[in-house]
Amino acid sequence: MGDGGATQRESLEALLQEARLFRPAPEFSKNANAGDAEIYARAAKDLEGFWADEAKRLDWIEPWKKVLEWDAPWAEWFVGGKLNVAANCVDRHAASARRNKAAIIWEGEPGDTRVLTFGMLQREVNRFANGLKSLGVKKGERVAIYMGMIPELAITMLACAKIGAPHSVVFGGFSAESLRERINDAQAKVLITADGAWRRGNVVPLKANADAALEGTPSIEKVVVVDRVGKQANATMKAGRDVTWDELVKDASDKCAAEPMDAEDMLYILYTSGTTGKPKGVVHTTAGYLVGVSTTHHYIFDVKENDVYWCTADIGWVTGHSYIVYGPLANGCTSLMYEGSPDYPDRGRFWSVVSKYGVNIFYTAPTAIRTFMRWGREWPARYDLSSLRLLGTVGEPINPEAWIWYHENIGRQRCPIVDTWWQTETGMVLMSPLPGLVPTKPGSATRPFPGVEADVVDEKGRTVPPGAGGYLVLTKPWPAMFRTIYGDPERYVRQYWSRYEGKYFTGDGAKRDEDSYFWLLGRVDDVMNVAGHRISTYEVESALVDHDSVAEAAVIGKTDAIKGQAIASFVTLKEGTLPSDALKRELREHVAARIGSIARPDEIFFTSELPKTRSAKIMRRLLRDIAEGRLLGDTTTLADSAVVGKLKQQYEEEG
Ligand code: WTA
Repeated sequence: MGDGGATQRESLEALLQEARLFRPAPEFSKNANAGDAEIYARAAKDLEGFWADEAKRLDWIEPWKKVLEWDAPWAEWFVGGKLNVAANCVDRHAASARRNKAAIIWEGEPGDTRVLTFGMLQREVNRFANGLKSLGVKKGERVAIYMGMIPELAITMLACAKIGAPHSVVFGGFSAESLRERINDAQAKVLITADGAWRRGNVVPLKANADAALEGTPSIEKVVVVDRVGKQANATMKAGRDVTWDELVKDASDKCAAEPMDAEDMLYILYTSGTTGKPKGVVHTTAGYLVGVSTTHHYIFDVKENDVYWCTADIGWVTGHSYIVYGPLANGCTSLMYEGSPDYPDRGRFWSVVSKYGVNIFYTAPTAIRTFMRWGREWPARYDLSSLRLLGTVGEPINPEAWIWYHENIGRQRCPIVDTWWQTETGMVLMSPLPGLVPTKPGSATRPFPGVEADVVDEKGRTVPPGAGGYLVLTKPWPAMFRTIYGDPERYVRQYWSRYEGKYFTGDGAKRDEDSYFWLLGRVDDVMNVAGHRISTYEVESALVDHDSVAEAAVIGKTDAIKGQAIASFVTLKEGTLPSDALKRELREHVAARIGSIARPDEIFFTSELPKTRSAKIMRRLLRDIAEGRLLGDTTTLADSAVVGKLKQQYEEEG
């Protein structure tokens, strides 16, 4: 736990006075996938029965014997069941009337496009699955993936699932060092990457980064490289180790039997930032995960057979795993995948994609919405957005102004908005309105999904009364919950399940209002949420301290109108090193090179001393007060209270 408690939302009182209520339109409710409020009571009364019913949406090779084995914090779902995720996401649709329905509509950044029907996707997945086998990949062996948003990314994930090899996708914006760390933790046997990726007309040198990472990854035997960018990527191939995607699949058969997987076999590892130490490998397993993501996708996004669904996340994050690939495809839904950024070639790009494909359901992050607000309503106004039927948000608290802007300018006052709260660890959305049933309040994720139980508690674990802030905990298991931290079960127990006996500690602050609606208040630990990306203060501090000039560093998430939080760092330099703007730039680039550009500090502030307690703990809470221009909070525990006053004055002068 941090010393914080300060959250991204400072004016809680104002927030809780948000009285606007948006009721579902009767025509929407009439046809909604969740149309009967009884779903909540049913799930509350019989959790296992509820999930057993939902599990029937999947094809099982062998039925489960028991829905849930719960020995907190260890869960097993659909015990004894066997199934294959790729068979559920691809094969069964390819064998149905959906054979020639678009599974993935891909829009490349430079404007090239590719559509894969379920039938075509099946052939591609099988060919690559056979390719992986020919490289010696066996069931249970980990495959690392480092790619941009191209169809081969989804194909690789599904091919891994098909043969039972867990994947570990590393976001393409991470540095070589971050990639190396993740490959080594997972002990991956092969790496699938691309020569490069397009980003705002520039080339991200994925292969060059991968080559640098691979200098310290003894477990990697083979590397497969997709040709995405061509010459401009300047990628080189290492003989004996590297093979191109095309070469690998050239003679591969397009038939591949699905490996029967145990319900609890690992489907994937996904690394995420925690409060201390290196990123942790969140482990998701097969059956519970797929039941969880397909069920939530069905009810929350209300997807209909002919809908086009677009989630703008990158597949490098959990949102892309659960709600671009696994949830939608399990449901036989058309999932749109976009390679580029929202402002390339211009600021109307997202809306041009919506109108080009007639997108019906659109899912994005508040940080993107706030950026669109800044760019102005004229951008979306130029496009025909009449196909849109439902909007979603994820990744951070949405402020009521952004919610209303989204409602008016994108939803044209017609589309319900689902504000979905969840985490890498939870695998599936745990809190969100069901669009046909639950009236929404701008800024509130409303209520837990059926069967999910949440509480807001104080330090001692006691439920706090309505209107009071506290810690968000989950009191019942859910099928897509992570099962452990890869290679570190002790950390799984300590970090998530030890604070309150038998309850899952989310790391988020929350309030419940008089109507039992939940309002998420941001992280209460040392995890920052920067433009919807999870970054720990610890990681950035370690990267800074690792620079030759830096003696000590303290990093905080500073409230930011667009990004939610910006990274502000307070740095003390080694004796003899002089502060300068050039050094600031160097440090920012140093962090970007160490972790990835998402972690590049927005602000670097040099100081001769950091405020510390008598036990030498840096008081980040006070640094946050300084950075956000507030009066200083309690300073009585400081070793030297003069330090912080001086620092505040200096910060204000320089700022
Ligand atoms: C935050 C992303 C408020 C929260 C799916 C959580 C949210 C962290 C919301 C997880 C939301 C996500 N409202 N806060 N609708 N959705 N968060 O693991 O702090 O990248 O703990 O998963 O994002 O981030 P992660």
